[in-house]
Amino acid sequence: MAGKLRAGDKIVVASHNAGKVREIEALLAPLGIETIAASDLGLAEPEETGATFAENAVIKAVAAAEAANMPALADDSGLEVEALGGAPGIHSARWAGESKNFRRAMARIARELAEAGVVSNEPNRANFTCVLAIAWPLERVHLFEGKVFGHLVWPPRGDYGFGYDPIFVADDHEETFGEMEPAQKHAISHRAKAFEQFVAEIVEGRQ
Ligand code: IMP
Repeated sequence: MAGKLRAGDKIVVASHNAGKVREIEALLAPLGIETIAASDLGLAEPEETGATFAENAVIKAVAAAEAANMPALADDSGLEVEALGGAPGIHSARWAGESKNFRRAMARIARELAEAGVVSNEPNRANFTCVLAIAWPLERVHLFEGKVFGHLVWPPRGDYGFGYDPIFVADDHEETFGEMEPAQKHAISHRAKAFEQFVAEIVEGRQ
């Protein structure tokens, strides 16, 4: 039986990524669920040793739930580029290096595509994937996955969002995620899709 959350409950957002924390808080606020970020509780960032988004989401959610003795919601996500065999994938954050330089990470994608000699008049297909994990202390973890498909553009466009948003255009759209107002991105993103399932299953009164 899945644990449940209801308005007034408080959970830890098990992420040290400010962009993600902001998006998750914006998704939870209308449900009346209060949040505190792992970094505001001074929780250490666990090492992401998993081989999949799901494994890493579980590592982060369980570590935060046990350290804080509260329910914890983690998000593991990334950009998968078809012509790069799904890279950077679970290494999306790591491609930005210690300094979290996403201009450099986006340039690496452009460079690796050029080096791979991808000769195509078609835009490069890519998708964002998000796996959400909700954990209660000493209980089972529940997972929800969302994907958004689209293509890459170069050079990057737009200052909204975070990470790889300026080079990703979702199918049936022309603006990059970096050019979209947050509410527009929230309506179609991988995170929003995973979140919809999380709400349907976990949030009391939303079934
Ligand atoms: P992690 O899940 O903390 O390992 O890192 C996920 C990384 O994927 C982020 O640092 C971003 O680089 C990238 N990413 C995940 N979701 C998004 C998004 O919505 N927009 C842009 N980049 C994203």
